[in-house]
Amino acid sequence: MATTTAIPTQAVYHNLIDGVWAPSGSGGLFENRNPANADDLIGRFQASTAEDVERAIDAARRAFEHWRLVPAPRRAEILFRAAQLIAERKEALARDMTREMGKVIEETRGDVQEAIDMTYFIAGEGRRQYGQTVPSELRDKWAMSVRQPLGVCSIVTPWNFPMAIPSWKIGPALICGNTVVFKPATLTPLSAWHFVRILEEAGVPPGVVNFVTGTGAEVGDPMIASDDVSVVSFTGSTAVGRAVSMKAAPSFKKVHLEMGGKNVVMIMDDAHLDLAVEGCVWGGFGTTGQRCTAASRVVVHEKVHDAFLDRFVARAKALRVGDGLDPKTDMGPSVSDGQRKTVMEYVDIGVKEGARLVCGGHALTGGLHRKGFFHEPTIFADVHPSMRVAQEEIFGPVVSVIRCRSLDEAITIANGVSYGLSASIYTQDVNRAFTAMRDVYTGIFYVNAPTIGAEVHLPFGGTKDTGNGHREAGTAALDVFSEWKSVYIDFSGRLQRAQIDTASQ
Ligand code: UN1
Repeated sequence: MATTTAIPTQAVYHNLIDGVWAPSGSGGLFENRNPANADDLIGRFQASTAEDVERAIDAARRAFEHWRLVPAPRRAEILFRAAQLIAERKEALARDMTREMGKVIEETRGDVQEAIDMTYFIAGEGRRQYGQTVPSELRDKWAMSVRQPLGVCSIVTPWNFPMAIPSWKIGPALICGNTVVFKPATLTPLSAWHFVRILEEAGVPPGVVNFVTGTGAEVGDPMIASDDVSVVSFTGSTAVGRAVSMKAAPSFKKVHLEMGGKNVVMIMDDAHLDLAVEGCVWGGFGTTGQRCTAASRVVVHEKVHDAFLDRFVARAKALRVGDGLDPKTDMGPSVSDGQRKTVMEYVDIGVKEGARLVCGGHALTGGLHRKGFFHEPTIFADVHPSMRVAQEEIFGPVVSVIRCRSLDEAITIANGVSYGLSASIYTQDVNRAFTAMRDVYTGIFYVNAPTIGAEVHLPFGGTKDTGNGHREAGTAALDVFSEWKSVYIDFSGRLQRAQIDTASQ
């Protein structure tokens, strides 16, 4: 199998602190295994501790003093070079990512592409980061706003987009002049390691990006609690996000949270039905349903409900589940045994609640599937909007189909969950499309496309329990990783009092 460097399989991977790749002080390691084949040990990573984190934060704090003064266009040159290196190694990076995370190779290529796109995009901000220059209310006085970096950023990322999501956070942090301590998910540290290696190779100076692997309790918590950290950016579950928020609150640091979703596709009676079916298959079962943006609810107008369901079930049943490195595979495994167990629990919950299981519903454990964490694509019909399978994030290949009688009812159902990440409508009617776009309260909305597929140059994030008011990607990311400084320059040579001396002007 191709790897990006000549690293032997089952290698031991180190932390990067202050420009030095070294083991954790703990001496402990954890394993990274292939979810399509648990016998396949990819490598061992450092089981780091609070002490490693402290050293990483200290290095980042010191590096900030020179990095913040490097002109942003120079910082950008490093990111442009990094994007180029990722692009050159795209295929090998994608293969390693499928091996550790499970999603099919076409999708991991997309994940790497998203990191390339984001890195190029945000590098461009090295020559922008626009502020405002405005007239002063006083004579001979200049007024403007500039973005300033905050300091050390703690970046905690999930396993479902092992390179894209780190790039959404680290690129903007760096272009604004911050330094970083980065903890990737323990299930996908290899892609993160590749990303950091490339940043280093592209010229990121020692201490500017520090990489510390380990658990949330051992590594994440001290990264969040430290008084020397100014920003925390976290993507993961709402429960963990809430805990992150509470841990960070006493020190008033800036916290950016990107959490769960229970995204909806609304299909109206005038929809192009085959297109809607295709969208639901891709949105519901792409990435094995393990996207925050996954289409886990489908609300269908009663007039087309049965026709839609028949075709949707037929398409889902035909999906080939297997090793994501096999180009014939349509859907890979769940990322871990624990994740598959969650899926199985929700299938039980759905059945007990009275939803009608019309497709799948079982773990796949025989033959080709025996060494991985596979589960059938699963569809529930006759789901009531209040059922747990229609309310809670499952993060697996389970889609709940709900019947509706009108656009109004579809919108009410769409909004009737605690999350607000992504929603979509299939309709040929421009009035319905715009009404839904306005009235569904989410951070992302699609017309005639599924709930997944956000592009990096627009803000990404959600409302309600999905987020805490911030957005990442796009130029919105700059708002997380910089703060405004308003600057007034008085060149009158005399004391001028704002709001008081205006009459004498
Ligand atoms: C996520 O699910 O956590 O819009 C990120 C999308 C991808 C990113 C998803 N570009 O589905």
